[in-house]
Order: sequence, then structure tokens, then C-alpha cells
Amino acid sequence: MAVPCIRVRDARVLCAGLAVAVACTSACSSSKAAPAQSAKATSVPVLQLWGDMKPVVSVKELMRDLIDPASDYVFEAVGTVINRKGTFEREPKSEEDWERIRIGAVTLAEGVYLLKIPRPFTPPGDENNSTGPEPEELSPAQIKTKLEADPVLWNAKIEALRNVGLEVLEIVKTRDTKELWEAAENLDQACEACHLEYWYPGERALMKKLDRRLQELYGVRADRTRPLGMDVK
Ligand code: HEC
Repeated sequence: MAVPCIRVRDARVLCAGLAVAVACTSACSSSKAAPAQSAKATSVPVLQLWGDMKPVVSVKELMRDLIDPASDYVFEAVGTVINRKGTFEREPKSEEDWERIRIGAVTLAEGVYLLKIPRPFTPPGDENNSTGPEPEELSPAQIKTKLEADPVLWNAKIEALRNVGLEVLEIVKTRDTKELWEAAENLDQACEACHLEYWYPGERALMKKLDRRLQELYGVRADRTRPLGMDVK
């Protein structure tokens, strides 16, 4: 069955069905753990940094130059590739293939914590596509307001992505290709869950609409097909 897909900003293709599910993983509850002051009383260890941290780039650039490329190491490892020669499934085979996946997983699991360092959301002067009658994206100021109103939620999204990074690291150890397909789905969801919250919340409504339409048409909730690899030459 053909699943209607829409192309989203990060050049992936969203297909109806899954994107509406904003997963609340165990990270949600764990990140609601006691605030720093009460940490002593409950003897939760507080991480002492070895030094100060300061950001180099905006969130947008961190996405473009670190998070997104790292995720491609995982996304591109499995997927249905559609090209002129036909359709086939891509899976890791060599040591080198697994190494790339490991690099991606470590970069994601560690790198996503850089989103805990306060930084601008965009480079100076970049307002995102936040103007006009139906703006697609929130402005950097709107995103900042949202984050500051509920930092626990922002941190939950960060932890959710980190958890997928950890999941992929485990898979690298066990070489379980089947699990890797699932992990790639989870990864996509972890990215989208944050984007739908902070970057383009309007798309959530659009996905819901698309999902309802699919149910009307086919009477079922359409499965998401893995879009990845479609752009691979
Ligand atoms: C904790 C939240 C969060 C998570 C998790 C997250 N992102 Fe983002 N991402 C953002 C925000 C916020 C923006 C928009 C920044 C802006 O333009 O103001 C963004 C923007 C982007 C962009 C646009 C960059 C550009 O140059 O326009 C890409 C690409 C991207 N993210 C990819 C990813 C991928 C891939 C993942 C998952 C592996 C991911 N993001 C996970 C918050 C997140």
C-alpha cells in the first residue's frame, strides 16, 4: 500500500502514522528527578564538571553540523534503497559498517548533551520561516520562551535521543541487524518528537489530519515505511 509521505525540513520523508506519536520514554520520568538542591538530601550524585563549558554555535548549526550528520551514520546503515536499479534493503555487513554506526551512536549520545548548554537557537539575523500568515516554523524567540517555560520537557527530549544512542551502542555489540531497523525508527521519532514540539509544532496537526484521512481511506493505521536511503545514489 502506498503511504502518503511528506518531506520535512531535515530532508527526510515523513510518512503518515508514526510521527504523531510523541514517545515519552523512561527519560521523561527520570529527568523529572529531584532538582539540584535536594540532591544532597537524597544522595543523588551531582555531576561536577571538570571545567566551564561554552557554546560555539547555535542550536540550528549544532543540528546541521553535528547531530544530523551523526544520525546519518545510523539512518543510512539500514533502509530500503530505491534507485533506478530497483528496490533493495541496505544493512551493515563489514566491520567498517559497524564502526560507522558506533561513531554515530557515540556522537549522538554524547553530543546531544551539548543542547543543555544555553546557546542561541539560530545564527544572528536568522528568524527561521516564522513570518507570514501561516508560518511553518517558530522563531528563535518563540522556541526560547517555550524552552524556558518548561526546561524539564526540553531535557526529556534530550534524554530520549540519548537513550536511542545507547540502544544503538548495545546493538553494535550484539550485531543485531533486526534491532537496528527498530532503533533507526526510534531515532527518527526522537528527532521528530523534539522538532514537533519546538521547531514546527504546526506539523503535528498536519500529521494528525493525514493520519485520520488514512484511517478513513483504508480503515487502518498505516505502517510507517522506512524512508531512509531514498536519496542514496
Ligand atoms: C532536544 C530537541 C531536539 C532534538 C532531540 C533534535 N533536534 Fe534537531 N532541531 C531542534 C531545534 C529546536 C531546531 C530548530 C532550530 C532553529 O532553527 O531555531 C532543530 C533543527 C534541526 C535541523 C535544521 C538545521 C538547519 O540548518 O536548518 C536539522 C537538520 C535537525 N534539527 C536534525 C535533527 C536530527 C537528525 C535529530 C535526531 C538525530 C534532531 N535534530 C534532534 C531541536 C532538536
